Amino acid sequence: MNENTSAGGFPVVRPRRLRTTPAMRRLVAENRVHAADLILPAFVREGVGEPVPIASMPGVMQHSRESLKKAAAEAVSLGLGGLMIYGVPEDAKKDAEGTAGTDPDGILQVALRDVRAEVGDDLVIMSDLCLDEFTDHGHCGVLDARGRVDNDATLERYAQMALAQAEAGAHVLGPSGMMDGQVGHVRRALDEAGFTDVTVFAYTAKYSSAFYGPFREAVASSLKGDRKTYQQDPANAREALRELELDVAEGADMVMVKPGMPYLDVLRDVAESARVPVGSYQISGEYSMIENAAAAGLIDRDAAIVETLTGFKRAGASMVLTYWAAEAAGRLLA
Ligand code: PBG
Repeated sequence: MNENTSAGGFPVVRPRRLRTTPAMRRLVAENRVHAADLILPAFVREGVGEPVPIASMPGVMQHSRESLKKAAAEAVSLGLGGLMIYGVPEDAKKDAEGTAGTDPDGILQVALRDVRAEVGDDLVIMSDLCLDEFTDHGHCGVLDARGRVDNDATLERYAQMALAQAEAGAHVLGPSGMMDGQVGHVRRALDEAGFTDVTVFAYTAKYSSAFYGPFREAVASSLKGDRKTYQQDPANAREALRELELDVAEGADMVMVKPGMPYLDVLRDVAESARVPVGSYQISGEYSMIENAAAAGLIDRDAAIVETLTGFKRAGASMVLTYWAAEAAGRLLA
């Protein structure tokens, strides 16, 4: 007989009492996902009149300018936290420097202007601040004479990109290239140009992940090889805290851990030490795995979506980027 046994030998304390009914479980839930926590990543493709389905991500589209505006308006009516926009330029517009990423008439800038005109300040409009969608070699930066990604030359390109995106109406810039010093360089460029309110959402701990696979189709990436010299090694957790210190010191307003599910420990570490809002990114491969497993009849799709989103909140994220943002807000979380 121990402290938790009654005279009959049965338990006195019964955790199952708090699981008896849906109403009881709802009452004692420690974490919930709200529409306002969710950020919808969206792709906009240059030169298309209709949205184009992305084969590797069932249910996700490369938007046309028109359909992106509709998605933004829908995001407002659903009460989403934000919209993170990625540009997909025409193939012929890609070059070694990623010029289309800084051109005021580049697809991302044009789309940002469209969306800002459509929704104003009713939705937090975010833009991916990275060169990989715009370079013909597919890397997140410019290359040196030996073909290596040149950190400091890339910072100059990011500064120009930040100004182009801020001028086009982005509220929040998401530097995702993992160059050293990118947050500080972008912050300084923004401040010098008077964009002191434009916010930096740093991809702080971004790992070199196999789960980005479907995204590379989504943005028609030209990448050959990998990003292991700039994205983090999946073996390392402590390094994420070093990146966090640097990003915050450089002026990051919000920070992100990416990918989501394989890095919940890192998310927890970052959430415990950060004094700024923390986001998690449920990336393309995570999305496609669940969609495909559900299509094969292996898992309950809706329950799996809600379980993963709740897991990010439980691990410490206050914001979650997910391709299911609109569906979750509209149907699953109700
Ligand atoms: C880089 C970027 C990537 C993602 C977001 N920003 C791809 C990469 O690092 O190769 C991945 C997002 C996803 O997989 O859903 N601009």
